[in-house]
Amino acid sequence: MQSYSVEHLQQMVSNAIALLPVYKEPSGLYEPISYTMNQGGKRLRPLLTLVAAQMFGGNPERALPAATAIEIFHNFTLLHDDIIDQAPLRRGAETVYKKWNINTAILSGDTMFAIAYGQLSASDPELLPGLMDVFTRTAIEVCEGQQYDIDFETTESVSLEEYITMIRLKTAVLLAASLKIGAIIGGASTEEAGHIYAFGENIGIAFQLQDDYLDAFGDERTFGKKTGGDIVVNKKTYLYLKALQNASEAGKHELQAIYSGSISDPAEKVGRVLDIFVRNGVQESTRDIIASYYNKGMESLKKIRLKPEALEPLMKLISGMLDRKF
Ligand code: IPE
Ligand code: IPE
Ligand code: MG
Ligand code: MG
Ligand code: MG
Repeated sequence: MQSYSVEHLQQMVSNAIALLPVYKEPSGLYEPISYTMNQGGKRLRPLLTLVAAQMFGGNPERALPAATAIEIFHNFTLLHDDIIDQAPLRRGAETVYKKWNINTAILSGDTMFAIAYGQLSASDPELLPGLMDVFTRTAIEVCEGQQYDIDFETTESVSLEEYITMIRLKTAVLLAASLKIGAIIGGASTEEAGHIYAFGENIGIAFQLQDDYLDAFGDERTFGKKTGGDIVVNKKTYLYLKALQNASEAGKHELQAIYSGSISDPAEKVGRVLDIFVRNGVQESTRDIIASYYNKGMESLKKIRLKPEALEPLMKLISGMLDRKF
């Protein structure tokens, strides 16, 4: 069977999203949805779905409804996430709750969640119960992860293990499910679907670690989000936890005091915390842990017996994902 390039699959995703029904009234509900969906974004999750479907010998066309559903769901989580994180900027533009208001971001988000299920239901009826199961479980887990993330903002001591569980839930399981759903549609065995899911979980953890890194050290113009945002709202990221671990007693107390509110000016707070991060080797440690989760993911991938050519599009997509600057 013909194998499509990542670029071709990307075009398929763009077309499918452009063809989504346009709802009109009330415009206060639907405009923010078009605004968000037409803003682009990397479209990684639907691409993972199509790549996985193709990898196991399926026609990626058949995975398009599910891929679209996942991208709409992802965009919905961003609307609510930006309220939670008080984030002013996404994809280089104002966030929905800033441009409109919180109520709009809640309600447009809810609608997107429903539209996502509608899209998913256009999948092959025979596969639908299995796909619904993965999708629903994942959606619930993302909310669990988001709640841990919120809880940790005000929890004094968070362990590295708790942090990894939190990012696995809020981010990694959706990337893993994107792959698994594609794999199921492509005709993978249960065992193969399990391996690709485990691969996605580890790559997903690496992806969120990279996101946390970029939030602190990225370039706002390319990243498209306000850098330092995690520090301002006291996120217990890997960077923070590692700095605490590596710092001297005095450094540790200073960092904890800053996260408890000792510096009120946001820009000054971010500058001070970044300085502590840099002095404690956090950048190197973050790169190391990203590499270790990547390698862990590769171990699971090796268990799937496919020809190297069949894996090419996936490997290309993954390396782009982890080298990203945005
Ligand atoms: C942002 O996801 C949320 C995280 C899980 C870090 P992406 O970085 O995939 O966002 P877009 O869709 O490309 O904007
Ligand atoms: C993303 O975590 C998790 C979800 C959106 C579910 P972040 O809060 O780090 O994502 P960004 O940085 O705002 O995209
Ligand atoms: Mg956020
Ligand atoms: Mg968040
Ligand atoms: Mg982030």
